[in-house]
Amino acid sequence: MTSAPVAEATVEHGLAELVGAGLRVPLVTGGELPFANLDIAATAPCLAAVRDAVNAILPWYSSVHRGTGLPAEICTSAYEQARETVRQFAGPALGTTVVFTRNTTDAFNLLARCLPGGTTVIGFDTDHHSALLPWRRAPVRRLVTPASAAGAVGAVDAALRAAPVGPRLVCVTGASNVTGELWPLADLAAVAHRHGARIAVDAAQLAPHRPIAMGRLGLDYVALSGHKLYAPFGSGALIGRSDWLRAAPPYLAGGGAAVSVRDDGAEWADLPARHEGGTPNLVGAVALAAACDAITAVGWQPLRDHEDRLQRALRDGLASVPGLSLLRLWDDAPRVGIASFTIRGLSPALVAATLAAEHAIGVRRGKLCAHPLVRRLTGGPDAIRASIGIGTTTEHITRLTSALHQLAAEGPRSAYADSHGGLRPGPEQPKATTIPRRPPPGNTATTARPSDPAHPPDQAQRRRRDDRPAASANLKTEDRSEDPEANGFAKAAAVKGPKRGS
Ligand SMILES: Cc1ncc(COP(=O)(O)O)c(C=O)c1O
Repeated sequence: MTSAPVAEATVEHGLAELVGAGLRVPLVTGGELPFANLDIAATAPCLAAVRDAVNAILPWYSSVHRGTGLPAEICTSAYEQARETVRQFAGPALGTTVVFTRNTTDAFNLLARCLPGGTTVIGFDTDHHSALLPWRRAPVRRLVTPASAAGAVGAVDAALRAAPVGPRLVCVTGASNVTGELWPLADLAAVAHRHGARIAVDAAQLAPHRPIAMGRLGLDYVALSGHKLYAPFGSGALIGRSDWLRAAPPYLAGGGAAVSVRDDGAEWADLPARHEGGTPNLVGAVALAAACDAITAVGWQPLRDHEDRLQRALRDGLASVPGLSLLRLWDDAPRVGIASFTIRGLSPALVAATLAAEHAIGVRRGKLCAHPLVRRLTGGPDAIRASIGIGTTTEHITRLTSALHQLAAEGPRSAYADSHGGLRPGPEQPKATTIPRRPPPGNTATTARPSDPAHPPDQAQRRRRDDRPAASANLKTEDRSEDPEANGFAKAAAVKGPKRGS
């Protein structure tokens, strides 16, 4: 099976304009293709509406809550308006505070710092590290992967029965970043409240796909990230009940968090300033709010129709690939557009490298910052994740499916070698601190060295790869380094430092 013909990267669904939708990237096999971003769950591209909102505020860029003059007033008002927009987006619940944070991880670390002494935290081993790790000061009851959504509710019920006294916080994910399954939030909230406990939801993957509806579902705390919501400007939020937040010392002690400072101490500000020490991230807040507005304007139903259609195509396409196993927690759970998988006999690193270099497809591979869950589902090795959202087209899915068929049948066309914690075309790349202007001298292809010994390529694939003339030979023989079109892959492939966060 060969790659499907590629149309221009047009926004076929017309849901919303994205910055960089037409991005074209070079292929190691020659030529270039529009980039198919199937890694939207990691970081979503920027909505044009978000860019426009940022552009509109930048000429006024000034101090928030500190300065005088019209620009400072406009920026302060934009910041507070952004807070209100985020509150509404979360599905307003009475008495909630919105604290701007850097991201979901930051939001949960803030909440962890605000837990009353002796709080027991109850959560599942299926969660993202950002929801698993911040509670180290509290006793944590870690529940094992439930067999069904109903099993999750039963497990929380049993854990709360076993810990009947003191403050308790149930922390669950809204949508899994590994399998895409939606968790039964209303039922989990109901059982938590029946036992007098509170519930915090990791909405990093929920927020871009479904209304959060804090009030209707009865959620006490929600954490989200702007960069997953098409607002890649380093902002997130913790939205939730005020009392624990108000009683805790500032998360970041410093300017803005205090109303009065004396030699012998400080009087801390009330919420939300109490936990927003330091100069606020105005652009991030404005961007996050613009994304909330833009998604609301698109409408949840059109967004869902678009994603459901593509998700069906994605799952059907993946299911047709020989040797591919889709990771799943539960059989019939509703899901957002996230699909993780392994392919028998193919290293995830090699699959991801080939998709990128030969097909201009971006996916994620690794243990997806959910090591316990991925290990449990794969038996140890890494997984590959494809994720969809606004901007995904049918052609992206078709291209992925065709590429995986081709890879499973014939192996990669290029040779790949370890580089900077991943695989890249050609031999070992020098550790670059800047993007190199020329390919490294003597750029001859070598055998692939998949980094995952649990999934070595089979003998036949290795032979096929070695027999094939290395596509990176183009880069070796033709020094077109002054040509801005040339050697784009080598330039684009050079990265700074080791890979993190897998
Ligand atoms: C489910 C889930 N929770 C939390 C996070 C952490 O988000 P951030 O890195 O923006 O803090 C992620 C990011 O991948 C995620 O997918």
